[in-house]
Formats: sequence, structure tokens, C-alpha cells
Amino acid sequence: MGDRVAIVTGAAGGMGRAITARLVADGLRVAALDRDAAGLADVAAAHGGAVDAVVIDLADAGAIAAAVAGVAERMGGIDALVNNAGTCFMSEFPAIPEAEFEAQMRINFTAAFHMAQAVVPHMLRREGVKKIVNISSNGAYNFDVFDPPHYRASKAALDTLTKDLARRYAREKIAVNSVAPAMTETPLFGVVSEEVLARAIAAMPHGRAMRPEEVAAWVGFLISPAGDISSGNVIILNQGRDVR
Ligand SMILES: NC(=O)c1ccc[n+]([C@@H]2O[C@H](COP(=O)([O-])OP(=O)(O)OC[C@H]3O[C@@H](n4cnc5c(N)ncnc54)[C@H](O)[C@@H]3O)[C@@H](O)[C@H]2O)c1
Repeated sequence: MGDRVAIVTGAAGGMGRAITARLVADGLRVAALDRDAAGLADVAAAHGGAVDAVVIDLADAGAIAAAVAGVAERMGGIDALVNNAGTCFMSEFPAIPEAEFEAQMRINFTAAFHMAQAVVPHMLRREGVKKIVNISSNGAYNFDVFDPPHYRASKAALDTLTKDLARRYAREKIAVNSVAPAMTETPLFGVVSEEVLARAIAAMPHGRAMRPEEVAAWVGFLISPAGDISSGNVIILNQGRDVR
């Protein structure tokens, strides 16, 4: 186990588990944040002492500040943050209830914003190039697929945060990038009907959805020393389904 510490949000989900496994394999210690206590217990058991499980509702900004302070104290500092927790509420526009709109923005954007606010002061105390990776979505860029507008907008806001922080902290060596995947096989697939899912997967050029480990490999690359010179980029992963 190395000295570098990463926080991964949504670590009990499909992508979060794969990202946690990638980073542990790359020698980092990982603070795994999620509200799913049972899922987190699985993740921690799979990785022994390399993973510190933190049960948290990321909708609560106060809880985020406390959790990040606790991680920094227990693990000795913070070198990387992966804002991966997210969801996709699917009501059709214009019939989107206010509470659903608020919840979509809160988990996909606001929570990531507060995570960055809490983590940056700790990163400024670390040597080397620190990393923030925001998990965005192809849905913010491809308007032909099914994603609803509040989902797209939450991810577009996240990508603007990526660019702002990248420029703001370039000289302090905090590298900030977004990874924006298309259809990736995770439990999130459950939000759409089988018919919509089949159509979306059929549109993928390789004839299959992407796998969480494939996305996690890109996150691992960005967090590895090879990723040091990239900042402010939105890296779209979609097998070439659409090129803009
Ligand atoms: N699966 C895809 O096709 C796809 C495509 C593009 C982008 N994404 C993005 O990837 C990221 C990961 O999604 P996934 O596909 O692994 O979904 P998932 O549903 O498997 O995982 C999401 C995780 O986030 C956690 N979470 C949600 N709200 C939370 C909250 N308030 N507090 C704490 N934890 C919370 C859930 O408990 C879950 O473990 C999301 O940001 C999603 O938007 C997924």
C-alpha cells in the first residue's frame, strides 16, 4: 500500500466499485463514500485495509465537510478525489417535479461542488500533482439519446466546474478532468425500460455497452503519474458513437 490517498464517491455503485478496485490495484489507499452501507461493507471486505468505508448522504453539505475532515485525519492527507456518485432521474420534460429537479442537481452537481470545496485545502498541503476526476456523462453532449434535460444540465454544470478548478489551481498542481462515458453496464441501467436500453446499446458501435472496468482504467490513468499533464479536459468515452 502506498502513501497516496484517494476519495471515491458512490463507491458502492457499479462504476464506483470498479474505480475503487483500479485505484487500490494501482497502490492507492481509498476512502470509499456512499449512502449504501451494505454495499460499502462488501467493497471494504474485498480490499481489506486499503479501503476506509464512510457511510454518508452526499446531499448533506455539512456531512461532506465532516467526512472529508475525518478522512484527512485518519488517512494522513488527500491526493485525489473522484466525484462519481450520481443518478439519473427520468421524468419527461416538462412534467419534472421540483423535488426531482432539485435532487438530480444536488447529487450530480452540488455534492461534487461541496466535495471539491472540502478537499482542495487538503490537496494544497500535498506534494506532487493532485487529481480531481469528475464523472460526467455523454448525455451532456449527445442530444440524440434518451437523457432528460435536468440530467444533461447537471453534468454540463459539473464539466464547467472541472474547467474552472483546472484553471484556478493549475499552478498549485491540482489537475482536474472530467470523464464522460456513454452506456456502461451498471445498476443505473435499471432507470430505463428494457426497450429503451436495448435501443441505446444497439447504437453503440461495438455492439455492446461499455464495462465499468473500462471506464475505471481511464480514471486510473488520469490519477497515475501519466495523467499529470492533463487538466481541464472532458474525456468522452463512447466507442466513437458520435464525434463532435
Ligand atoms: N452507467 C452509465 O451508463 C453511465 C453513463 C454516463 C455517466 N454515468 C455516471 O457514472 C456515475 C456512477 O454511476 P453508476 O452507473 O455506477 O450508477 P450506480 O447507481 O451503480 O452507482 C451510483 C452510486 O451512487 C450512490 N449515491 C447516489 N446518491 C447518493 C447520495 N445522496 N449519497 C451517497 N451516495 C449516493 C449510490 O448509492 C450508488 O452506490 C454517475 O455519476 C452516473 O451519472 C453512468
